Amino acid sequence: MSKTFHILTYGCQMNEHDSEKISGMLNLIGYKDLNVENKEEIASADLVILNTCLIRENAAQKVYGKLGALKGLKRKNPNMLIAVCGCMMQKEEVRKQTLKKCPFIDIIFGTNNIHELPVLIEKAQENNNKVIEATKKAQLNSAVVSKIAKKVKKENTVSIIENTEEIHEDMPKARKYSHKALVNITYGCNNFCTYCVVPYTRGREKSREPEDIINEIKDLAQNGCKEVTLLGQNVNSYGKNLSKECSFADLLRKISKIDGIEFIRFMTSHPKDLSDDLIQAIKESEKICNHVHLPVQSGSSRILQEMNRRYTREHYIALADKIRREIPDVAITTDIIVGFPGETTEDFMETVDLVKKVQYESAFTFLYSPREGTKAATMENQVPEDEKHERFNLLLDTLYPIALSKNEECIGKTYKILVDEVSKSSEDYLTGRTEHFRLVHFKGDKSLIGQIVNVKIDTVKTFFLEGTIV
Ligand code: SAH
Ligand code: SF4
Ligand code: F3S
Repeated sequence: MSKTFHILTYGCQMNEHDSEKISGMLNLIGYKDLNVENKEEIASADLVILNTCLIRENAAQKVYGKLGALKGLKRKNPNMLIAVCGCMMQKEEVRKQTLKKCPFIDIIFGTNNIHELPVLIEKAQENNNKVIEATKKAQLNSAVVSKIAKKVKKENTVSIIENTEEIHEDMPKARKYSHKALVNITYGCNNFCTYCVVPYTRGREKSREPEDIINEIKDLAQNGCKEVTLLGQNVNSYGKNLSKECSFADLLRKISKIDGIEFIRFMTSHPKDLSDDLIQAIKESEKICNHVHLPVQSGSSRILQEMNRRYTREHYIALADKIRREIPDVAITTDIIVGFPGETTEDFMETVDLVKKVQYESAFTFLYSPREGTKAATMENQVPEDEKHERFNLLLDTLYPIALSKNEECIGKTYKILVDEVSKSSEDYLTGRTEHFRLVHFKGDKSLIGQIVNVKIDTVKTFFLEGTIV
């Protein structure tokens, strides 16, 4: 019987895609994805992997919560190997703390060495077998297993590559969907925004060769993929370390020539690097979605400087205006942090004012979370929690009505939509997204998943639209 695994993914699309690579590697060595949610079934897995995120404190807390539950499962099923990987593990202090809290973890690996996984599993398996054997010999009950585990298994299997120039092109990928795919174009980040842990967990920015990206997407298209989402912490700086010149706009133009690909999306655009040529590339191409995710973080130039974002409020507003002027039917979405150290009520009101000016189609909002090792974590004037929450709610009160009124403009219009999946709320309904990334619910049979349909919008809410296939 083949072995089974269960993978839990926290964090951003980078991590989601890494989990597809991890699953691909596991399939290669004969492990099958259990693909289940309930605890009883997960308990039977031979390998459970937690792909972790460190971006905010609550992301890390969720992982510790899950590890607590897994400890119990491993006690019942001593054959189960527990592996922890992802951004949390890239930071030495977090890694040490995690191992201290959870010595039962079998394998630890990072974001740069997914390719090593088969070797690590083998090593951990040997270790684990030693523990199981010792337990059996002693005929002991499960309560003392962990004590034996500590004695026999002297060390956990830990392998981390800190920062690397290397890109592993040959990794197999078990993709979650066949009609849409995540595609890395850059890895890492060079920006060092003062609040952010990503440059420490993902290392320096590296671009993939355009040929490698094009070949991957051609291959996807041949296998029925219709939508690609290009991933990078700052896609606009794509191409900086390449031997032959190729900007992000050049890359997009090349990708839009690939037959079969109908929707091209990308994340994330840093405002400081968004070029006029990129705006033109989006404007020219039918396939490149009219959606720019342009994280502003704050509407105060003073705070933006403290954040090391390298643009001002005025620059950002002018850029958003230009995008809206050049691409009339465009959606602009954003990320905003509330309560960055030293943020005054006046600074925050500038954020509220910017939101009203830019009129975002939607936004992700975050309470500032101090991350160890970042510059902002050591800044004085940390904003009190209750103040942060108050501002946060006020911000949502500003964002939601704008999103709703923008959605209302969609009523009566028909959109080309790639059908993603059956709606979570009703079996008779399907979901997909407009090119502007609006979620749409519509009645339809699941045989339409992966097909492109035209949906006319009937009613709208703040977070989604409802329509009918026409
Ligand atoms: N590379 C992307 C962002 C990746 S992280 C960019 O530069 O836009 C996703 C979002 O998480 C960020 O845009 C920011 O809004 C938020 N974020 C990052 N660090 C944070 C922190 N310490 N506290 C709260 N939110 C944070
Ligand atoms: Fe973090 Fe800034 Fe890099 Fe985005 S650009 S990943 S926010 S350091
Ligand atoms: Fe993504 Fe979280 Fe890492 S947001 S890059 S998984 S710290």
